[in-house]
Parts: sequence; C-alpha cells; structure tokens
Amino acid sequence: MDTSTKYLGLDLKSPIIAGSCGLTADVDNMVAMEKAGAGAVILKSVFEEQIIYDIKRNTHVFAPTDNYGDSYEYIAAHVADDSLSKHFQMIRDAKKRLSIPVIGSINCFSYENWLTYAIKFQEAGCDALELNMAILPYETSLSADDVERTFSQIINTLRKSISIPISIKVGTYFTDMAKQMQQLSWMGIQGVTMFNKSVQVDIDIEKESLQNASYLSNPEDIYNTLRWVAILSKKMRCDISASTGIYTSDDVVKMLLAGATTVQVVSSLYKNGIDVIAQLNQGLAAWMEKKGYNSLSQFRGKLAVQPNDKASVAMRTQFMKYFAEIV
Ligand SMILES: Cc1cc2nc3c(=O)[nH]c(=O)nc-3n(C[C@H](O)[C@H](O)[C@H](O)COP(=O)(O)O)c2cc1C
Repeated sequence: MDTSTKYLGLDLKSPIIAGSCGLTADVDNMVAMEKAGAGAVILKSVFEEQIIYDIKRNTHVFAPTDNYGDSYEYIAAHVADDSLSKHFQMIRDAKKRLSIPVIGSINCFSYENWLTYAIKFQEAGCDALELNMAILPYETSLSADDVERTFSQIINTLRKSISIPISIKVGTYFTDMAKQMQQLSWMGIQGVTMFNKSVQVDIDIEKESLQNASYLSNPEDIYNTLRWVAILSKKMRCDISASTGIYTSDDVVKMLLAGATTVQVVSSLYKNGIDVIAQLNQGLAAWMEKKGYNSLSQFRGKLAVQPNDKASVAMRTQFMKYFAEIV
C-alpha cells in the first residue's frame, strides 16, 4: 500500500503531518512522531513577541530605552540573535536525527521581521517554511482590502527572498474566502494550511479578567475545514494541508477525498498521544485496501467540487437534502 505523497515539492512517506504546537518544540518528541509514521513535522512557531520579550528582559528595557543611547540597536540585535539561535540549534538537531522533512514556522507582526526570520530559518536548514499568518481583522479601521494587501506584501517579499518552499497557514476570517485562497495560491507559494484555530478568549467572572478558553479542538470542528477543502482543492494552484479537528483515520480519508494533499494533527496528539499517528496510518491503509486503492492519487479529490462546477450549487444541494428533503 503506497501512502506516499508530494507536499510543497517534498517527498513524504505519509500524508499525516504533526502540526505546529508545543510538542514540536522538542526533538525527542519529533523522533517519536517519525517513528509513529508522521510524513513531516512542523515546528512550534517562533513568535516575534517572544523575541521582543527576550530583548526587553535582557536589556531591562522596561526602563527607558534612551539609557542605552546608540548601543540599544546593537544590544537588541544581539539578544534577538541569541534568542533565535537556541531555536536554530533545535532545527539542526532535528535535521540530524530525523529523515522526514522538518518545516519551520514563524508568526510575526512587523513586515521587516517576517523577512528577517524567514531568511534565518532557511539558513538554519528547514526544508520548508509555514507562515503562521494570524492576521485578523480586529481593528474597526481595517478593511478586508487592508488585510488582503498585508498578506500579499508579505508573501511577495518572502517569495523573492527565500528559495525553500513556502506554505501559509490561515484562519477563517475572510469575507471572500474562496476568491482570497485562490488568489493566494497564484502567488507562487507551494501550499496553504487551512485552518489555524485562533485562541478563544473567555472571561473569568471571579477574577473579572480575560482568560484563554480551551485551546484544544474537538472532533466536530473538522466540518468547516472539510467544507472549504472540498470547495477549493480543485480551484487552487498549490497544495492544501487540512488542519483542525482531525482525530481518526476516517477524518484523514475524508480530507483526502475532499482534495487535501496532507492533513495535520495536533489536539489528537495531546489527547491521544503521539502513537495515534501510527493508528491513523494503519486506518488509512486498511481503508485503501478495502476499497482497492493502491495510491493516494487514485482517490484524492474524488469528492471535491470539480474545477468547472459551482461550489454554491454543490453546497446548496446538501442544504436542500437536509432541510427540504427534495434532492
Ligand atoms: C498547545 C497548542 C500549541 C499550538 N501552537 C501553535 C504554533 O506555535 N503555531 C501554529 O501555527 N499553530 C499552533 N497551534 C495550532 C495547531 O497547529 C492547529 O492548527 C490547531 O490546533 C488545530 O488543529 P487540531 O484540531 O489538530 O488541534 C497550536 C495548538 C495547540 C493546541
């Protein structure tokens, strides 16, 4: 049974990827993921805020920056390099110990640092880079055009500046999801990861303060991703990696039928342990055998909205089946 696939131009033994999370900040975990049959690992993101925090802690910039005069820039750059160098050492260790692709991940807020970090991640030896573009339209002053322009600027700059494959990880807050994803796929990137699950904010009514709600997904969270993968997989010019709510091998099969090139698991690793990857691979192979498929390409995208079909018709048909019982 051949479950190998090409993702972002890289050869993967399995379409099941360990997604970016705390577990992929540890090389021993990543070795266990490879042993369980992961096709690739995506490292925990480096967040620009982390580096800024390290700079502040190490330069005591909680005090005014003028204390440092001209030397501040120099010290800040040095601290940033030192902070990032620990991460790069992890990448080098992971590359030494793993044979599967190691995909870096960054999440920045300043235009300059998207570029700076991307170049450094390439130099550190990542096989590809996932841009965790959690750019959300929080501000009332922001229009959809502003947000979309930010995406384009970052992608265009990085595409010209690094040669390793790039995928972008997006959230679900687009007013024109289908059009946007298709346009992004035309910008020379190799993949889109759909979707990141943004941190849910809750309120502690005793402390009267904001707090995070549970950060793990639930199995029913899969359906939003499934819908958009099915709508877009035949209309985009790059790979789709499906993320959110993937727990079982049935989920993996569904995403592949919808047209995903790979799937990413995270919450399931936390809830069920790293060995769940082996179960997902076994379940996928067993389903393929039962159905008489020898390779993923024989069924990938079989249930996607076809290139010349209208997604609105396909989705409305499902709606009518349920609510009007007429199809
Ligand atoms: C504990 C934890 C840490 C995460 N850290 C990152 C991260 O650093 N970068 C990132 O792109 N996504 C991160 N994510 C999001 C996951 O990669 C994934 O997109 C999301 O959890 C949905 O997938 P799931 O349903 O399989 O959990 C994190 C998720 C969890 C639960």
